[in-house]
Amino acid sequence: MKKIFLFAALIFVFSNASNAQNLWRSEILGRPMDNGITMQLIFSDSAQVRVQYGTASGVYSNQTNWQTFADSVTAEINLTGLTPNTQYFYRVNYRKPNGTGAVNRPEHSFQTQRPTTDSFVFIVQADPHMDASSDTALYRVCLQNQLKDKPDFMIDLGDFLMTDKLLNSSHVVPFDTIPYRCNLLRSKYEISCHSVPLFIALGNHEGEEGWYNNGTANNIAVWDAQQRKKYFPNPFPNSFYTGDTSNTPFVGARESFYAWQWGNALFVVIDPYWYTKPKPDSLTGWRWTLGKMQYDWLKQTLENSNAKFKYIFAHQIVGGDREGRGGVEYADKYEWGGSNLDGTPGWATNRPGWYKPLKDLFAENKVNIFFHGHDHFYGQQKKDCMIYQETPQPSLPNFNYPNSAAPYGYLQGLILGNTGHLRVSVTPNYTKVEYVKAYRPSQETATRHNGDVVATYFINAVNCYDSLNTGSPMIWNSNYADEIVYPNPFQQQTIIEFNLKNPDAVTLDIIDVNGKLVRRLMDNETLNIGKFQVMWDGKNFNQADVSNGTYWYVLKNRNGENKSGKIVLIR
Ligand SMILES: [Fe+2]
Repeated sequence: MKKIFLFAALIFVFSNASNAQNLWRSEILGRPMDNGITMQLIFSDSAQVRVQYGTASGVYSNQTNWQTFADSVTAEINLTGLTPNTQYFYRVNYRKPNGTGAVNRPEHSFQTQRPTTDSFVFIVQADPHMDASSDTALYRVCLQNQLKDKPDFMIDLGDFLMTDKLLNSSHVVPFDTIPYRCNLLRSKYEISCHSVPLFIALGNHEGEEGWYNNGTANNIAVWDAQQRKKYFPNPFPNSFYTGDTSNTPFVGARESFYAWQWGNALFVVIDPYWYTKPKPDSLTGWRWTLGKMQYDWLKQTLENSNAKFKYIFAHQIVGGDREGRGGVEYADKYEWGGSNLDGTPGWATNRPGWYKPLKDLFAENKVNIFFHGHDHFYGQQKKDCMIYQETPQPSLPNFNYPNSAAPYGYLQGLILGNTGHLRVSVTPNYTKVEYVKAYRPSQETATRHNGDVVATYFINAVNCYDSLNTGSPMIWNSNYADEIVYPNPFQQQTIIEFNLKNPDAVTLDIIDVNGKLVRRLMDNETLNIGKFQVMWDGKNFNQADVSNGTYWYVLKNRNGENKSGKIVLIR
């Protein structure tokens, strides 16, 4: 590790030899707001920095004052007084403190907060890791793919620092490992985050678990929190964001749980680690907790929001198996679901004075999607009208099978292999989630191309929470059939496949033998040319299992042309 670091440092010195100030960490964006944004750089010598910006490319009608930063100190520049719902172009200038040798960085861009009537795209990725199993070049491709989507921001669901795993020969994590890893992972985010503001949800390998915190200044929970804040600009509570208002010893504002509205959507990032202690095991899942303060903030945040779409982001479910793994199969347990391991009620004894289990709080407030990571594949599941979206890795080339799905407790839903990111489009009328695959050129085949969209689903503005007439159909590109795993017996999921020779708007219904509508899987949804498959889980509008028997699917296009076929369900 040390050799690699020295080599990287040498390259760095050479590449900056012409400038006395060495730009050590280039600009990334964070904390986008209605009227402001933060950009962050780090120099290895003291430097003066300013930012020029405007609303047209190459036309910088505004600029900040020059600010002087000492070497190795995070140069954080806040742009203020911006106009909401506006695209800005900017470039960073830096120079020696005595005012000579100014350098212009390349132009980049960002977007301020969207109004409720506007559409936008955001990105979710999880578990970049950068460990022995990671493919660095593939991660680079994935980040470049994200940039091409022109998202307003990216939310990383954690496990990027991995510091708790990097023990030395004395079986401790040395402090130096933490800034080393911050530098390494930050260098990757710099590929896209100059124009894609970064939000981070903490993972279990960021070292910020309560069980590592011994109450002193010297433990990895505190070191990691301090260094993470130095290298990565997460939000803290202000006029735009809500979050953790506490002042943590040795850390200050922790910037680990926060919420904001963008367009017609509420974004809530939660932290299941800092307050979890001692470390849970397979019999002590109730130890997993947000803590009462975070829980109360979460409840208030959800109840105060009138956003049409609501999304929760966390590295893992608050509970799960002994390692915090799993999706809907663990959703009834512990702080998430209120039951004990054996299924008996446990909420009143384990969370006295708390309102409701998280799952019920989310249902009451109509949360649409819980984005989680930790388990390293694409997994889309649904329970009580909420999608549980396990997010793939951006860096792990296990394209064929997510062998880990069943051992991690996933027995249902659509499971797909790595690698790629989630592209989420939010419009006033629907949320669309797409799984965008990443391949290096040498990894592409006749049917697998970088940027392929292999799974898509929609959540309409009127959805499962509001009425009986919508489902959440899963559509995926059938070229990828060899990557699909069916964890359930086949009788529980039926696949309807179709081709479109022209772009069209498609409605797909399931009717019973009497012609009665049982379920609408797709409701006038616009699709491009291609081959598609839609999963029907054998449930009706009420999410109840339909009885065994014969059903018909009816596929209608924009012009009302029909195709239909028989489906026999035998459980
Ligand atoms: Fe993890």
